[in-house]
Amino acid sequence: MLLVGTETSDDAAVYQVGKELAIIQTVDFFTPVVDDPYLFGQIAAANALSDVYAMGGEPKLALNLAAFPNCLDIEILGEILRGGADKVMEAGAVLAGGHTISDEEPKYGLCVTGFVHPEKMWKNYGARPGDSLILTKPLGSGIISTAVKGELASEEELREAVKVMTTLNKYARDLAANFSVHSCTDITGFGLAGHAMEMAKGSEATLVIETEKLPVLPGVQEYAEMGLIPAGAYRNREFLESGMESRTEGWREDVLFDPQTSGGLLLAVPQEEAPELMKLLSGLELPSAVIGEVTGKQEKYLVFV
Ligand code: CO
Ligand code: CO
Repeated sequence: MLLVGTETSDDAAVYQVGKELAIIQTVDFFTPVVDDPYLFGQIAAANALSDVYAMGGEPKLALNLAAFPNCLDIEILGEILRGGADKVMEAGAVLAGGHTISDEEPKYGLCVTGFVHPEKMWKNYGARPGDSLILTKPLGSGIISTAVKGELASEEELREAVKVMTTLNKYARDLAANFSVHSCTDITGFGLAGHAMEMAKGSEATLVIETEKLPVLPGVQEYAEMGLIPAGAYRNREFLESGMESRTEGWREDVLFDPQTSGGLLLAVPQEEAPELMKLLSGLELPSAVIGEVTGKQEKYLVFV
């Protein structure tokens, strides 16, 4: 029986196999976001695995999807695949082959199968008024990537962005699994605002986000103020504008729409459980933060303060 399909734009499809087992199926691949092929492989794999974590599940089986130009050194493809394989291993899943085609631009990603208990599955709807919103990775990887293309970002800033993109959402998921997660999604191409909008609409609630509390990567403020905003951020803003109300402006607003690659989890948990979960999350390498709360449905689905 199909538990989650396409109608709620959730992170993956979920199919119930038995009373205690549902399988999560997801696929994701894209063109290189960094020059280093090994790091690109890690990022693409972490991003693809993330949709299983966003549903509260555990990845079990992965297959490679790769496209590679004939004119490039085949060793580069080997490095991409090695990066992916390392992340699949870190996730505790098995990489069981895959498929490569010839194409003008390299592309890489994974098709992933995960397991979840049907009653413990997290959905991108179900957030309740009074819930606290927790974000588990800093924002701004799109802005930093744009600054890298403009040869402005420092090595240190790039390193921090790469750390965010290669970090598995497994660690945050494993900690949150012991709490009453009402809703969860991962932050990727639609930016924090876009994925928050899906959660708000699906939950028939309003998400109030306190922009001063958003964790951001080093350099993001400077580059956003210089106007180094990726094109996708403008598209995200345009798409969301009618459903939101913003009492903030400037770079903090830009961060909301910044498309993320392999971003963190956005979790809605009961307010009384948030401090305990935050205490555990603070032991992880990347900063998490309580970034706002869920209220009953207001005039707009999203309110930025
Ligand atoms: Co997702
Ligand atoms: Co995805």
